[in-house]
Amino acid sequence: MHLLIRRSVEDVASFVADLVVDRVRQGLVVLGVATGGSPLPTYAELVRRHRAGTVDLRRCHLVLLDEYVGLPPGHPASYRHTIDEVLRRPLGIPVDHLHTPEVHGPDLVAACERFEALIGELGGVGLQLLGIGRNGHIGFNEPGTPWTTRTHVVTLAPSTRRDNARFFDHPDDVPSKAVTQGIATILDAREVVLIATGATKADVLRRLVTADGDRDLPAAALAEHRSTSIVVDAEAAPPRPLAS
Ligand code: PGA
Repeated sequence: MHLLIRRSVEDVASFVADLVVDRVRQGLVVLGVATGGSPLPTYAELVRRHRAGTVDLRRCHLVLLDEYVGLPPGHPASYRHTIDEVLRRPLGIPVDHLHTPEVHGPDLVAACERFEALIGELGGVGLQLLGIGRNGHIGFNEPGTPWTTRTHVVTLAPSTRRDNARFFDHPDDVPSKAVTQGIATILDAREVVLIATGATKADVLRRLVTADGDRDLPAAALAEHRSTSIVVDAEAAPPRPLAS
């Protein structure tokens, strides 16, 4: 894992947008996308560059990390809807290039298997953008999740539901279940970029620096990945660099 500290949220967004554009120029087709607040400035920067005519991501496929179970299709807080609004449509990416776990059918386990197969058919994720929960989750893999998991159905931690209540009218509206790529699925991406900004992420970043295989910190699994960058702003920055 490489730790990269940038001064501000805007600097983080600009750095990660540069990286995405560079990888697309090198032939990246499948971009793994996260929701939550952390990657939004990066998405806005990509859209700004698209509108300025300096980047073209229209050939990319977008693969989502996770999706709530129990929201009606098109719900404004659903992750499919969010990525559609903030990234896919503004970038002019065809709708059939947006891939999300199916969460509306009767058999979620079969849907998880289909999602895994779909990622394989696309040739795997070339670059995965990630956030990190204050409890160390990646995707919706909460603390204690085995690092061997593939896409699966999860029950959200109470702290995750509280953290995400800001995207809903009422805290009780936050679903209690979701489908998420597993930790092993995430580690299959050829490159991972984890974005963390703001003082609320400082504690978990400090834990990540010293995690050393801590199974209670799902993000610590990224130490086993061959190409992971952690990009943070000054407020989230841990006190010393990662060892490896
Ligand atoms: P955030 O969420 O980007 O909204 O802080 C990150 C996450 O929960 O993975």
